[in-house]
Amino acid sequence: MFSQSLLPYNTFGLDVSTEEIYPVEDLISLHQFWISRRWENRPWHILGGGSNVLITDNLAGTVLLNRIRGKREIAREGNQIWIEFGGGENWHDAVMWAVEKGYGGLENMSLIPGTVGAAPIQNIGAYGVELKDHFVYLDAFCWETGTQVRFERSACEFGYRDSIFKRWAKGKYFITHICLQLELQPKVNTQYGDIASTLQSWGIQNPSIEEVSRAVIHIRQSKLPNPAELGNCGSFFKNPVIPESQFKELQARIPEAKHFPVGAGWVKVPAGWLIEHAGWKGHRAGAVGVHEKQALVLVNYGGAQGKEVIALAQKIQADILQRYGIELEMEVNAW
Ligand code: EPU
Repeated sequence: MFSQSLLPYNTFGLDVSTEEIYPVEDLISLHQFWISRRWENRPWHILGGGSNVLITDNLAGTVLLNRIRGKREIAREGNQIWIEFGGGENWHDAVMWAVEKGYGGLENMSLIPGTVGAAPIQNIGAYGVELKDHFVYLDAFCWETGTQVRFERSACEFGYRDSIFKRWAKGKYFITHICLQLELQPKVNTQYGDIASTLQSWGIQNPSIEEVSRAVIHIRQSKLPNPAELGNCGSFFKNPVIPESQFKELQARIPEAKHFPVGAGWVKVPAGWLIEHAGWKGHRAGAVGVHEKQALVLVNYGGAQGKEVIALAQKIQADILQRYGIELEMEVNAW
């Protein structure tokens, strides 16, 4: 029954299977699938790059792979250019394409794993830039009606690693295309994290978007494990946002507590710091562990089972709650 391995399709490297894998290369094949299966009461699941899902067990039904490709200019005006990307494009390849063309805006999000179509679901972001900063609209295929629907930016209700596609719209749509607004005369953003110091160490004064992209790739490669070598899903938890009053109590106990103000009486505490402070960094339990360079990343040392990963994640959550009174929410989607 579960004859189709999903091992090549999930970056955590979980050895799970499904009954059928259906690659979707265009709208016609998607529509054909819908026409032929809509009356069947069998489950289906959508996978992009498989880099933010934890498939904990074999999956009944069909796994649809988003393989819709393409990049096309929609409009340009003044400093802005609108590009529509197929949802199955690899995100990093799309960023590299934009950087080569000289279109600015995505360079800080270089090397994020996954597909373009999955990017809006959790509003991906890195180094001070989020997808929503460049997002114009997405087109999606609605399972209930079998029609294409357009969602403008405000309709997606983007938040920190959040959108309607993680809430009420979850599982209801297949994202076929997304349109991003990029800059023809880019202004670089080097404020966040180690970008400026990396560029400085390379002797670069006025960086181009290509140089910013290279700096981001360098920083990510130095901290984050390559899924091709060590299975992982990037950040496993979200960075918790807590009331300032609660943070003050934490700071009274631990003056060096890392934090970022996010406005209106709220403070973001890096989950990686909490997990490291609690002593979990580099911890290993059988085939799973906490990455030794970035405590926010759980890794598969080979042959991990979904339930082992969940067990480790739950232990970490319980420990952080007990020690600091802070709840860690999973960023990864467990199926
Ligand atoms: N930190 C520690 N120990 C650790 C890890 C981090 O003390 O083991 C501290 C760092 O020193 C720093 C702070 O925590 O002061 C933040 O760390 P970092 O800049 O590495 O980023 P992060 O908050 O851990 C977030 C995103 C990443 C994104 C980076 C860079 C989330 C859940 N994660 O991680 O996104 O690449 O910022 O912008 O918001 C992802 O979502 O999968 C992802 C990798």
